[in-house]
Amino acid sequence: MTSDKQYAGKVAVITGGARNIGKCIATDLVKKGAKVVLGDLLDADGDATVKELNELAGGEEIAAYIHTDVTKYADNVALFKLADTKFGGVDIAIFNAGIGTNANTMFMPFDDKLDERMLDINTTAVIKGNKVAMLHLAKRGGGVIINMASAAGLQARPAVGIYCASKFGVVGWVRSCNLYEKICNVRVNAVCPTFIQTSLADDLSNAVDDDPFAKLVQKMAKVPMEYVIETVTKFIDEEERNAQTLVVLPDGIHLYEPPNPYGHIAAHDPGYAEGLEEYSKESINYFKKRLAAAREREGI
Ligand SMILES: NC(=O)c1ccc[n+]([C@@H]2O[C@H](COP(=O)([O-])OP(=O)(O)OC[C@H]3O[C@@H](n4cnc5c(N)ncnc54)[C@H](O)[C@@H]3O)[C@@H](O)[C@H]2O)c1
Repeated sequence: MTSDKQYAGKVAVITGGARNIGKCIATDLVKKGAKVVLGDLLDADGDATVKELNELAGGEEIAAYIHTDVTKYADNVALFKLADTKFGGVDIAIFNAGIGTNANTMFMPFDDKLDERMLDINTTAVIKGNKVAMLHLAKRGGGVIINMASAAGLQARPAVGIYCASKFGVVGWVRSCNLYEKICNVRVNAVCPTFIQTSLADDLSNAVDDDPFAKLVQKMAKVPMEYVIETVTKFIDEEERNAQTLVVLPDGIHLYEPPNPYGHIAAHDPGYAEGLEEYSKESINYFKKRLAAAREREGI
């Protein structure tokens, strides 16, 4: 059966898709005709979401779920493989899984696992997932990767210091991905909302002792979920958006251009400016070769 819906024929993979933001994104994509593959740790929620989405599509099997710990390469590989076997490939990869617990870390115990966990899930796992997605999207002839960062990836407060560090990491990674569009037609972007009323937002703003941050969060207006969905849609539809950060605020969506360190450095170092242009041109062929080798190595 053919459909004239906007995303008919498209397949999206969504991490952290079992509930809240990930589930809302999945629901919107399904309403627009896409098929979705969800990965999460919350199996009961994941299965229930798939059931709801299939019902939304009139009983057709348009959604699938697989238990996925995004910090593990093997799980990321299995998630994308499921999209391949079930729905024939991937066009849209949305890395949304994240945590907000224990973000007020400075004076917590010297516990390796406590601090590593946030960075493992919010940052390193995004990089691992993007690497797997890049090969699948390249195989498809192109596509878009959308990483769920945060406004906390662009500005910072001590009560959520390590959360900010984790999301700044995602923004830095996304900005480093600006050449893949020319290499394999894959665009990589970041969504940066302030607070949306979910359990994660509650975790972030839960006061440790009498931390005044909770009061600040209570005063802040919350972002409507529709704006997050609209941002995802913009990144899918608007092909000029590459290595971009869109900030999602209670009053709407705003482009947040990176500071221009190249311009600044180049003003002090003309050799760097000249070299940068050459580097960008040469990198395209260099990375095309590396991509081909990676696809062969991974069998994707
Ligand atoms: N809620 C907000 O205010 C807000 C603001 C900006 C950014 N974000 C980001 O949006 C994303 C979604 O957040 P949310 O508010 O819907 O929170 P949420 O806790 O409801 O959703 C996060 C999902 O990620 C999953 N997850 C956590 N660790 C995982 C792992 N190791 N492997 C696989 N899945 C895992 C969770 O089970 C959950 O389903 C997060 O990346 C968060 O940092 C949220």
